[in-house]
Amino acid sequence: MSLPSNDPARRRHEQRRQWDSVAAGWAKWWPTIENGAQGVSRRMLALARIEPGQRVLDIGTGIGEPALMAASRVGPSGRVVATDLSPAMLDIARDRARELGLANVQFVEADAVEAGFADARFDAALCRWGVTSLPDPFQALVAIRRFLVPGGRFVTAVWQSGPEGRPMADLAATVARELFGLPSPAPQAPASHRSANEELQDLFARAGFSEVRSEEMAMALEFSSAEDCGRYLIDVSPEFSALLGDQPLAQRMEFDRRLGECLQPYATADGGVRIPNLTVCATGRG
Ligand SMILES: C[S@@+](CC[C@H](N)C(=O)[O-])C[C@H]1O[C@@H](n2cnc3c(N)ncnc32)[C@H](O)[C@@H]1O
Repeated sequence: MSLPSNDPARRRHEQRRQWDSVAAGWAKWWPTIENGAQGVSRRMLALARIEPGQRVLDIGTGIGEPALMAASRVGPSGRVVATDLSPAMLDIARDRARELGLANVQFVEADAVEAGFADARFDAALCRWGVTSLPDPFQALVAIRRFLVPGGRFVTAVWQSGPEGRPMADLAATVARELFGLPSPAPQAPASHRSANEELQDLFARAGFSEVRSEEMAMALEFSSAEDCGRYLIDVSPEFSALLGDQPLAQRMEFDRRLGECLQPYATADGGVRIPNLTVCATGRG
């Protein structure tokens, strides 16, 4: 995400605005996202060894996952606190909790690192696809470790690095670069050649976690047409929403056409598109 400033308060404000702007898109595409993502949440809960009666923290919960799955697992004697920077995301998460009849989850509008919880408050902490949105993931992990009881586990999911992590976002970024003449990544800032597993294991260890492990998981996104893919990216991704939202209709249609061509290898027999993504789940003991 392009950030306008190094000033933390301004940066937070801008991130909050960007995520607020796509909250309705997340609600709209939730069945598509959760169809694949529920398996990732289930694995995260297993790695965190979440049991009835525990206190669990979910960071960057978005519209409520994996917080709500954890709330079902810990039951009425347990408690889940779910934080996010975006009030619009949290409003939807609260509605979902109400609809599911889950009264043991509390939603807090807070920055991941500056949430100000007492030390040793949680038995486990989770963060699904949020760590890489944070300005300083290392500081975030240091803070999260402090929130855990001794021996408590933190589990996070991030996308695998390289095109195989999120092929559609990768192809869409290439199409957008060609179509809108955006600069290629600066040569002085080469992308890391390490896998997300290596990056995460290193990060966890430096932040003081023990028993650090990571594993790769496949997760597919299924769309009924190629046109839906472009719409999805604009609706749920702050980056693509900012990039494409203001383009003239003709440019948007050209973007959709070129993206559709690139997605041909993922076409299904019934006219849909099935994108195989790779995520990495990492766990460490505080
Ligand atoms: C990719 S979404 C993931 C949402 C959810 N965990 C899921 O898997 O469906 C990332 C979330 O992190 C939140 N976020 C971004 N920066 C944050 C920060 N500094 N502190 C807390 N939450 C943040 C965003 O508002 C957004 O809801």
